[in-house]
Amino acid sequence: MTKLNATITAVGGYVPEHILSNKDLETMVETNDEWIVSRTGIKERRILKGEGLGSSFLAINAAKDLLAKKNVDPKTIDLVIVATATPDMQGASTASYTASKIGAINAFSFDMDAACSSFLFGMSVAARYIESGIYKKVLLIGADKNSSMIDYTDRATCIIFGDGAGAVLFEPNTEGLGMQDEILKTDGSGREFLGVKSGGSCHPTNEHAIKNKQQFIKQDGKTVFKNAVFNMADVSTKILKRNNLKKEDVQWLAVHQANQRIIDATANRIELSSDQVMLNIEKYGNTTSATIPLLLYDYESKLKKGDNIIFAAFGGGFSWGSIYFKWSYNNN
Ligand code: UT7
Repeated sequence: MTKLNATITAVGGYVPEHILSNKDLETMVETNDEWIVSRTGIKERRILKGEGLGSSFLAINAAKDLLAKKNVDPKTIDLVIVATATPDMQGASTASYTASKIGAINAFSFDMDAACSSFLFGMSVAARYIESGIYKKVLLIGADKNSSMIDYTDRATCIIFGDGAGAVLFEPNTEGLGMQDEILKTDGSGREFLGVKSGGSCHPTNEHAIKNKQQFIKQDGKTVFKNAVFNMADVSTKILKRNNLKKEDVQWLAVHQANQRIIDATANRIELSSDQVMLNIEKYGNTTSATIPLLLYDYESKLKKGDNIIFAAFGGGFSWGSIYFKWSYNNN
């Protein structure tokens, strides 16, 4: 029997119109454009405005962009996965609402949360459903409305995060293209360094939580930074080694966009040069589950069939990983 690989056959993206620039942030907290650009590489980020709009709004628009671009009939989709750390609400998945709204009426759907690694881990899950032959079309969407958990008086976090979504379609491939290998990891001792304390089952939001601003994301930036570089470089090096890939065999590094210095340091450690690194942090900031699909969205026209891509992500939890992927189409 022919081996089924799982590959990406279409990409879509969406960012909200409203731009929050470094200049805007200068009027909100004690910071400046020079500090933000030199310490993070971020110039602006997008913010979703509008009462009652959540991550599903971003996910629906990214999915619709993909469906229209590749003329995919939503009724043919078997499964919709929404990778998100900021679901619309508790107790009802963002994915089921998204699937209904895009007309994927024959699909089942669920959310996946591994913080900033949600999309990377989602790629692994989507691939297993395709490789097993159970499903033929899996729509994986990374969507986060990070502005919903940001304290815009906290300069340690408000300069970094933005809102956005990206979508990819996974389908079977019989030429050996698509997913090749993966190393995915978690370490629960990391959760004290990055996360939102209240609103979950440990600490439901109450007056005490709000008084102490526990509904907002908090991070120990330096600890997260060090762990991100060390761990993404570690798993990416292992992936390269066990697949006998040399520096010149890799066309692209598609790494989670959290901080330009983290991206540069990771690429440096695995000895890839800057022209091999996909980058768009400058215009979107850290969009959590959306950074990797938005990279594919922005770089799709440059990707060639057979290109070797190393994906890497690191996020809260802690969670991290690396995936070796062979791109499967030219975008003409
Ligand atoms: O997806 C995972 C999510 N999170 C991350 O990946 C975050 C990883 N960490 C980082 O990106 C960086 O640690 C930050 C960008 C958050 C901070 O950069 P840093 O180089 O680690 O700065 P720092 O926290 O060590 O602060 C250096 C200085 C401090 O002043 P002093 O003590 O040296 O006088 C801060 O008070 O910069 C100050 N500072 C700022 N100044 C202007 C901190 N934030 C700001 C700011 N504007 N926004």
